[in-house]
Amino acid sequence: MSGLVPLVDVLTRTERWFRERGIPSPRLESELILAHVLGMKRLELYLAHDRPLSEDELGALRALVARRGKREPLAWILGTAGFHAIDLHIVPGVLVPRPDTETLVDAALEWLTDTEEPIYVADVGSGSGAIGLAVATARPSVRVYAIDRAPEALECTRRNVTALGLEQRVAVLRGDLLAPIPAERPVDWVLSNPPYIPSRQLRTLQPEVSKWEPRLALDGGHDGLDVYRTLVPAAARRARQGVLVEVGAGQAPQVSDLFRRAGLQDITTWRDLAGISRVVGGRCAPGTSPEQHPA
Ligand SMILES: C[S@@+](CC[C@H](N)C(=O)[O-])C[C@H]1O[C@@H](n2cnc3c(N)ncnc32)[C@H](O)[C@@H]1O
Repeated sequence: MSGLVPLVDVLTRTERWFRERGIPSPRLESELILAHVLGMKRLELYLAHDRPLSEDELGALRALVARRGKREPLAWILGTAGFHAIDLHIVPGVLVPRPDTETLVDAALEWLTDTEEPIYVADVGSGSGAIGLAVATARPSVRVYAIDRAPEALECTRRNVTALGLEQRVAVLRGDLLAPIPAERPVDWVLSNPPYIPSRQLRTLQPEVSKWEPRLALDGGHDGLDVYRTLVPAAARRARQGVLVEVGAGQAPQVSDLFRRAGLQDITTWRDLAGISRVVGGRCAPGTSPEQHPA
């Protein structure tokens, strides 16, 4: 790419370059990156197909296209991803929220009935904040504890909390699982999309995941279930209402069993759009006293 090349030619060359490197959806991704560089909407590219690109614009485009050519996740390059009904800032080092995870948000919205009283939700392993912030956006009574061990994830969550104007309803906490929530604070529901990929499968995944996304966000130990073994009993003890978690393909029976052994009831699974059992939920038995009571 050099000189004053019209937009349509830049698009065609980028698409070809991506196709040769095995980038999925090369045309769409070329359009998204070019629109991002030019500050346009995707469809506006077609109204400006003759517009020549300046050297500066071409330089900016080349840098982003080169990153994508190395299979860096598209959302890190664009700095944003749509999730459920919200747009999220996404930064390198933080897991890109997946469409599958919208199944967990939908399941939570099915079970969390809106009330006059605040509903306290822990989003364990918040990453970008996707789950907690989508639920808080849809349910004004929800208050969220967004918890993660990774400082870059918490920074990303904080940025999204501010962008969505949710500062009064979301506390961002650093630490292990539920430990950072002060003992006297109430927790009604625990929601989580924990790391669940079996360690040995990590390097077989597409390069965007295996080469770039953080291991702490993905690695669930030898069978993928390590975090559930600690989280599910702890969540069942702490929550007043129930627990909902995302699971990997084929893990729903074992995770349901962990729910049963933790004393959770009404154990339910939800399927994602591909028909895979993706979410397991359970309610706390009525009359069981949670570990901690609200102040
Ligand atoms: C699969 S990602 C989910 C991110 C986000 N909730 C989403 O659905 O897009 C798992 C997240 O859990 C965090 N994490 C892993 N182990 C954790 C632990 N023991 N305590 C708190 N967070 C943890 C990771 O840093 C990562 O952000």
